[in-house]
Amino acid sequence: MISPELKLPSYTEQSPEVAARFARLNQRDLILDVKRISKRFASPQGAVTALQDVSFTVHRREFLCVIGASGCGKSTLVRILAGLETASEGELLVDGKAVNGPGPDRGMVFQGYTLFPWLTVKENVMFGLKMTGHRQAVAESEALQWIELVGLIESAHVYPHQLSGGMKQRVAIARALANQPRILLMDEPFGALDAQTRAQMQSYLLQIWKQVDITVIFITHDLDEAVYLSDRVLVLDRNPGRVNELLENPVPHPRSPRQFLSPEFLAAKARLEELIHPPGDSTEEDRLPMLRMTPVGDEVY
Ligand SMILES: Nc1ncnc2c1ncn2[C@@H]1O[C@H](COP(=O)(O)OP(=O)(O)OP(=O)(O)O)[C@@H](O)[C@H]1O
Ligand SMILES: [Mg+2]
Repeated sequence: MISPELKLPSYTEQSPEVAARFARLNQRDLILDVKRISKRFASPQGAVTALQDVSFTVHRREFLCVIGASGCGKSTLVRILAGLETASEGELLVDGKAVNGPGPDRGMVFQGYTLFPWLTVKENVMFGLKMTGHRQAVAESEALQWIELVGLIESAHVYPHQLSGGMKQRVAIARALANQPRILLMDEPFGALDAQTRAQMQSYLLQIWKQVDITVIFITHDLDEAVYLSDRVLVLDRNPGRVNELLENPVPHPRSPRQFLSPEFLAAKARLEELIHPPGDSTEEDRLPMLRMTPVGDEVY
């Protein structure tokens, strides 16, 4: 929690440079138009509304982070965007065309490690290329280019069990990018990594994003990660999942870990924190039942 005494620039007082940056971003073509998407699931306890009336747009080469409390529908949203789940209502346009299922224009990286354990790094990255009819030699040379981009050319012939968690996720990114999607969908891709590896992966991802014509939609729980990576942050509320705010991130590019303590970074993070945990929001759910399991007189404070 950020101390309220900290003097931060108000998030709403955007500087002219930030306003100009977003004016430029808004001039880019729309790549994704999410129109009033709702999703209901049937469950033994009755219907669950995971998403209600969710609308937002994303411009080409934008980096959008999506945050929100657990259960607010982030994974459901990204699965609908990937075409792995169908919306109960609403419409999804990619490059102006309605889409209703998975397609090569969207690639996905999940939180868990999803590489095929029986294939080498190179074969994992080649997999999608071969499925889409590329000849062996072409698939191989393209796969190697993507493996080089994620800095793993020396590990091209090893199997996933021989890689660290961070390396596995770099292969998963290379595998998704090899199919040349327009949009890269990432559902907490670094959630299982330790803090140091995670920071390194964030920096790799920003470098890749700069070099490849790709739009990124990145789900995270981590506010630092959202502010460090994003152009904008979509904040979802829960019960039912709906849009609370689409925040324009004032932190300038190029990003570097030194910015973590800059006034803009702290202001954006404080604003996100306020949106996710509004004052007075601590619910009874957060309280554990009080069971004493220590002797009287041994209290800690
Ligand atoms: N296949 C399903 N069947 C029934 N309910 C589901 C299904 N998938 C998700 N839900 C419900 O939809 C809501 C949103 O779930 P979702 O997994 O999208 O949340 P999330 O924001 O990704 O959560 P987390 O941060 O914990 O990953 C939850 O109430 C969940 O129980
Ligand atoms: Mg999720």
